[in-house]
Amino acid sequence: MEKNFYIETFGCQMNEYDSEKISGMLKNLDYKETEDIKSADLIIYNTCLIRKNAENKLYGKLGALKKLKSEKDDLILAVGGCIPQNDEIRNYILEKYPFIDIIFGTNTFYRLPEMISKHLNNNNDVLVELEKNSSSLNENLPTIRKYDHKALINIMYGCNNFCSYCVVPHTRGRERSRDSEDILTEIKLLASQGFKEVTLLGQNVNSYGNDIEGDYKFTQLLEEVEDIDGIERIRYVSSHPKDVGDDFIDFLSRSKKVCNHIHLPIQSGSSKVLKEMNRKYSKEDYLLIIEKLKKSVPNISISTDFIVGFPGETEEDFEETLEVCREAEFDAAFTFIYSIRPDTPAGKREDQIDDKIKHERFNKLLETLYPTFYEKNLAYKGKVVKVLVDEVSKSKDDYLTGRSASNRIVHFKGNKDLIGKIVNVKITNVKTWFLEGVLTEEDAYE
Ligand code: SAH
Ligand code: SF4
Ligand code: F3S
Repeated sequence: MEKNFYIETFGCQMNEYDSEKISGMLKNLDYKETEDIKSADLIIYNTCLIRKNAENKLYGKLGALKKLKSEKDDLILAVGGCIPQNDEIRNYILEKYPFIDIIFGTNTFYRLPEMISKHLNNNNDVLVELEKNSSSLNENLPTIRKYDHKALINIMYGCNNFCSYCVVPHTRGRERSRDSEDILTEIKLLASQGFKEVTLLGQNVNSYGNDIEGDYKFTQLLEEVEDIDGIERIRYVSSHPKDVGDDFIDFLSRSKKVCNHIHLPIQSGSSKVLKEMNRKYSKEDYLLIIEKLKKSVPNISISTDFIVGFPGETEEDFEETLEVCREAEFDAAFTFIYSIRPDTPAGKREDQIDDKIKHERFNKLLETLYPTFYEKNLAYKGKVVKVLVDEVSKSKDDYLTGRSASNRIVHFKGNKDLIGKIVNVKITNVKTWFLEGVLTEEDAYE
């Protein structure tokens, strides 16, 4: 009998990529994906530990599943990804939600099919398979991709940076770069299948190659991806400011395919806080990098991440963050309230910031950022941009949604045959988070 699986992914693109691999493996086992959790024979939560609220989301889901699980005897429930990598939290989950059948981690997700058959042979026990640090790169797993025109490609796994607030080095292990030949072969295959855009993924893509012998680094990889016929857009995420070098910026200025967008998390505008975060750059270093980027790459769009309320952050420190926002004029940003994480040095500090102050600072940060996002979008009004069309708009059936090279979301009226194509759209109206426009034959400005 045909079986259905339901998968929900939390967290970053690393998890999305792993989920694409999980879906690929399950489809090879004749499982069909369903969006309706009630019709699933297998439910998988691929989890995230980055902030407490990501953790709470899982608990909410698990609580709600208790009933379904008791009604459906043979339902298999698997929890994987970053949360189970933490011993204490995993043990808490095992105790509180004894109806979970399978627990896997970031380094063992590829064993899920095997775990499912083990579970079926040995019904009642919960199966836990984890590896703290893995040298495996999980090459050659089948992938079911969400889109037919754009793809996520992991170029490296893990993180070596140990920012003092962050769990990722603990959940994902040390940096491991994939072999460049494997990456290029994968992208060539995608190009031959009609994919137009690739996003090269890693916690810190600019340190690609540092863990392997030789001089082959991120810029060389980009150069070779650029030479692949059929690929029209190259994106990459994330870049750590400490690793953004001049050779990389030079390449961006010459490249025809790398998009004019960089996601360059700053976290704080105070050099004192940055030092305590173990970010290895100062406010001045950061501002210098974006000055170079703006000079070298026309219309470059710069997005960033902020954490407010890091332990010991004073009013003056926070003022510096606001000051940097005014100076840098970011195009977009993800903003986070500092969350205490297990096993991190910042989490153990005594000088945690009061919740009320954290929220006040958070709101002030948004008040400073949003008008700039809007202003930056306003500069596009009346201009024509090239848009890679992703899907039918969620709010209106006869509208499409895509992204400009600078990573702006663009909505416009059009037929769904255009999905996967690059079209020219003239911008007629702008909002803080997206642009609206109409299809046009006019030449594109960007
Ligand atoms: N590797 C990427 C970031 C991955 S995590 C980089 O360093 O650029 C994504 C973002 O989550 C981080 O940039 C940071 O802003 C935020 N974040 C990480 N740990 C956090 C914590 N403990 N509390 C709040 N936000 C956090
Ligand atoms: Fe976390 Fe820092 Fe690594 Fe990013 S670079 S994943 S913030 S430790
Ligand atoms: Fe979350 Fe793990 Fe990514 S903790 S942000 S899913 S690496």
